Amino acid sequence: MAHILVTGAAGFIGSHTVDRLLAAGHDVTGMDNFRTGRRANLEAAGKSSRFHFHELDVAAPGALDGVVARLRPDAIIHLAALVSVPESVANPELNYTLNVHATHLVAEAARTHRVPRVVFASSAAVYGDSTALPLHESIAGRPISPYGAAKLASESILLGHAAAFGLTVRCHRYFNVFGPRQDPASPYSGVISIFDRRHREGKAVTIYGDGKQTRDFISVHDVAAANAIAATKPGLRSGVANICTGRATSLLDLLKIFRKHFPAVPPLVQGEPRAGDIVHSLGAPDEARAALGFTSDVTVEEGLDELIRVG
Ligand SMILES: NC(=O)c1ccc[n+]([C@@H]2O[C@H](COP(=O)([O-])OP(=O)(O)OC[C@H]3O[C@@H](n4cnc5c(N)ncnc54)[C@H](O)[C@@H]3O)[C@@H](O)[C@H]2O)c1
Repeated sequence: MAHILVTGAAGFIGSHTVDRLLAAGHDVTGMDNFRTGRRANLEAAGKSSRFHFHELDVAAPGALDGVVARLRPDAIIHLAALVSVPESVANPELNYTLNVHATHLVAEAARTHRVPRVVFASSAAVYGDSTALPLHESIAGRPISPYGAAKLASESILLGHAAAFGLTVRCHRYFNVFGPRQDPASPYSGVISIFDRRHREGKAVTIYGDGKQTRDFISVHDVAAANAIAATKPGLRSGVANICTGRATSLLDLLKIFRKHFPAVPPLVQGEPRAGDIVHSLGAPDEARAALGFTSDVTVEEGLDELIRVG
């Protein structure tokens, strides 16, 4: 069994990744400063004697290095980040510190203390508004926000370390992740968690435009599985892969599923399309299948049924 260090462990994806690794029998150490994460997300993990936690800022000088020096984990899964695109636009300096500098510190800690593997939470945001769908990893990154640029820069920093120092780096470009523990109050929260909250409150949702916009929605359980594979499967090579389903779902499709569960909620409110909104986004899942043996298991219907059931 392996010992995995997870940064951003108290977050949405982080806490599911921790749960997944613990269920597979691994030892897990989590790091988080609760910038956007929540203690409650680690309630299940906290019951395991194989889980340890450090409340630390990964970008603080020496913090991550100290933990890695002591633990010498088999892999680091780096999820901690400033996760809001609008916040990265409002504060590019902070975006640089939390999303680029922090990744450099992860790369350096891995090099210095000979951690053989790093898994990085990149994003479909590296593709910007590319319309060459489905999006393949071979398409040149064309970010349109400081957040997307920081994710692309982080991939390069880590892959440079991989090539120069012999560690294995897997960069995961997550598409639209959804599932339990996603914070609907966050300004960058996924549309699904916002729809979920509105329906629970008995309120109509607002759709900007005709609702035919599509996204590649992937369950957080699938994302956690991909993270666990990338951190623990023997013999992987460094590289970048989309973590997506390869299936497009429109906002109207989502609404249909919600309406089945909440038939009394008033019909949707239609707003003007928002300037700059990407109309369609769809990932190609082939590379993740080839490199990791990963394919998504959970359909949008199954994922929404679970979300609506457990909240
Ligand atoms: N949710 C998505 O759809 C999505 C899509 C693409 C990429 N991502 C990436 O996946 C990762 C996880 O995102 P999430 O959706 O779980 O968001 P989240 O906000 O729930 O998780 C991020 C976690 O990192 C922690 N954190 C932030 N800065 C930190 C710091 N300096 N030191 C220690 N901890 C810190 C936060 O407290 C939080 O627990 C992020 O890197 C994000 O950019 C998410």
